[in-house]
Amino acid sequence: REVTLDDITELCARRGFFFQTGKIYGGLAGFYDYGPLGVELMKNVLDDWWWYFVERREDMYGISGSIITHPKVWEASGHVDSFIDFIVTCQKCGAEYRADHLLEDRGIKITQYTPEELKNLIRVNNIRCPACGGELSDPKAFNLMFSSTLGPKKDVPFTVYLRPETAQLIFVNFKNIVFSMGATLPFGVAQYGKAFRNEISPRNFLFRLREFIQMEIEYFVNPKKLNECPYFDEVKNVEISLLSAEDQERGVEQARRVRIEDAVETGLIGSKWHAYWVAESLRWLWRIGLSPEKLRVREHVKTELAHYAKQTFDIEYYFPYMGWKEIEGISNRSDYDLQRHQEFSGEPLHIIDSGEKIVPYVIEPSFGLERIILAILTEAFTVEKNRIYLSLKPRIAPYKVAIFPLVKRDGLDRLAREIYNEIREHIRAYYDDDGSIGKRYAKADEIGVPFCVTVDGQSLQDSTVTVRYRDTRQQVRVHREDLLDFLLKEIRS
Ligand code: GAP
Repeated sequence: REVTLDDITELCARRGFFFQTGKIYGGLAGFYDYGPLGVELMKNVLDDWWWYFVERREDMYGISGSIITHPKVWEASGHVDSFIDFIVTCQKCGAEYRADHLLEDRGIKITQYTPEELKNLIRVNNIRCPACGGELSDPKAFNLMFSSTLGPKKDVPFTVYLRPETAQLIFVNFKNIVFSMGATLPFGVAQYGKAFRNEISPRNFLFRLREFIQMEIEYFVNPKKLNECPYFDEVKNVEISLLSAEDQERGVEQARRVRIEDAVETGLIGSKWHAYWVAESLRWLWRIGLSPEKLRVREHVKTELAHYAKQTFDIEYYFPYMGWKEIEGISNRSDYDLQRHQEFSGEPLHIIDSGEKIVPYVIEPSFGLERIILAILTEAFTVEKNRIYLSLKPRIAPYKVAIFPLVKRDGLDRLAREIYNEIREHIRAYYDDDGSIGKRYAKADEIGVPFCVTVDGQSLQDSTVTVRYRDTRQQVRVHREDLLDFLLKEIRS
């Protein structure tokens, strides 16, 4: 059967992946705490992302900016004026809703709108409060940024904002990075960390949160060299499923299969650098276990583009319980942000390239960690006749190995502990001798442990143990002395 959102939510709470924050006090909508398994999964995904996009590359630097940020940053970026959704309030019970979500729940999908259009759509479709049937107010603009006041002087408040995207911290540090690192074009700056949005209606578990982690790259390119990408050959044959803006405007819903190189040559993707980052993003998402047929690239239609974007492609994942949904956005932000910060701060934000002063263009791949984790869990959740297991890639799995004595006596437990003590120095592992071996396998399967090592009677005689593969349940015998290398090799493959 197909996985449901309830399957995932229930498993995550029961097995310690995610807990609703402050649940003993009734919880807070849109906030989750990472549990012991969730935090391992988080760390593995972040580490792999950092390795793939930063460590192994020669053109990438990392930063980690502050969460509480100077208000001028958000005036310059346009967020104070433009980072809004439209809210409607029930006149009877006071419940608040995001106007476009109410329409979407009725099957009316809109991508951009004025408050007048929203008002008309709500009236024409006779939409009332889903909670009590009451009449709804006119839509009002609602800014999504969380703010606070800085310092003790409450009578002269200085408003600061919790960053709604990590990206701006890279733009305001552009000059610092160029000077301190001697960076030359083209180069990228990567950052992961918390972002905060006061979403009107957080929902669908990890999908729409008020506090979440973004993994973002701002890749700086000379605007005259958007088609000079030295790495393009590595990705030119990558095939993607692409739903263009033009196709959507003509009512087409089916994405087309297209090679990256053809997508650039036919003008579907604006430049080689933009296409390169689409392909690299997909290659990483495949690497961590999302299947190509469940990922598509959807271009934003003109009216949907953010205020800073020239062209945007969303990477969407097919969630069986929600349909196609964005997990990453890849935008051409042009020189919008650097120009605005230059204008608002009075600081020159250029770089010298080919003997010229350049304010570079930016291609921005922006990933949401929790949405990617939700996709990973959805993809991995497998129901068989007698069991449920999470088919996680070993490099992403919270625990890679579980070590069991077949029974808790006859010296098997002592030997199993010895082996566990050796293995855990190198590989994230846990020891379990509680209950029947069947129950222990069932738990390991449910939390996605790829390899279970069992010490049995034969182990005492010939120093071999069984290694059981999670997905196939196949078992092989491995000598204790070869076990660490065997496991390390399997985990890396
Ligand atoms: N700097 C560009 C930017 O922030 P975005 O499309 O607003 O663009 C990027 O966000 C990614 O952040 C999204 O693709 C999504 O994965 C994640 N994201 C955005 N809002 C979110 C929310 N309320 N809850 C969880 N993830 C969110």
